[in-house]
Amino acid sequence: MIRSMAYLGLTTPAVAEWRGFGSDILGLHLIDDGADGAARFRMDDADCRLWVHPGAQNDIAYIGWALSGEAEALALKARIEAAGPVLTRASAEEAAARRVAGFYAFTDPMGFRHELAWGQFVSPGSFTPGRPMSGFKTGDQGMGHIVLLVPDLAAADRFYRDVLGFNQSDRITDGGRELLFYHCNGRHHSLAIGSPAPGMRGAHHLMLEVNSLDDVGIAVDRCAELDVPVSKSIGCHTNDRMVSTYIFSPSVLRIEYGFGGLAIDDLWEPKSYTRTSIWGHKELRPDLPPAMIVGN
Ligand SMILES: [Fe+2]
Repeated sequence: MIRSMAYLGLTTPAVAEWRGFGSDILGLHLIDDGADGAARFRMDDADCRLWVHPGAQNDIAYIGWALSGEAEALALKARIEAAGPVLTRASAEEAAARRVAGFYAFTDPMGFRHELAWGQFVSPGSFTPGRPMSGFKTGDQGMGHIVLLVPDLAAADRFYRDVLGFNQSDRITDGGRELLFYHCNGRHHSLAIGSPAPGMRGAHHLMLEVNSLDDVGIAVDRCAELDVPVSKSIGCHTNDRMVSTYIFSPSVLRIEYGFGGLAIDDLWEPKSYTRTSIWGHKELRPDLPPAMIVGN
């Protein structure tokens, strides 16, 4: 059983821009580079939560999911392999590089690499934000949520629920779009999927939740000062009630920077909505690429 989103890896030609973006705009804690020159960030006392690797194109390199231990990972491995994908166990060196005790990796039918990890390394008292801020809401809810763009929405929905074991949170149909949301802990969603066009793969945003509404407003101010595009105005979502803004990262992937997301429990009943936002979230930069589409 997946417990939370533990970490995320990106690839981008824009690693250098990410260092300042991550620390000065988002308030992440920039630590020493990875062996391949990756920019690495802390967002709490976990040794590392976000890797930004050098690469020829913008892509999701891997999504790290936390499990309770290797026994739980092996149980999930059996279920995934029965559905087709083959899992490989990370070497000790690979696990150490991710700052976890171990993980199994596989590529899902949509083309995304997942890592089923356990024993994340934590250094209590180590988190130092890149700019003054109240910190990130993580803990049992993990590092945030990721919104993937999948080539086949129905096939992805079956895989993420029936094989990986995510629970449905909600669905939103807004115009011609359909978005599906999934939870694995008290965070309203750790994973969401949409389909921009049949056959396309990519990601729309990574959501990071902060501990104060002031941090969201300060991030918008910092974007204006440092000339970083804010792609959507501050708004409140219908489903998770997050008050957030969307910041255009150097790898096109938006960072939803939010506060006050809904916490849910096992009694949650999935809802359907026809709008993504109660107020706000107005598109401010229609001139920018609408999402990180791999291959574009
Ligand atoms: Fe979001």
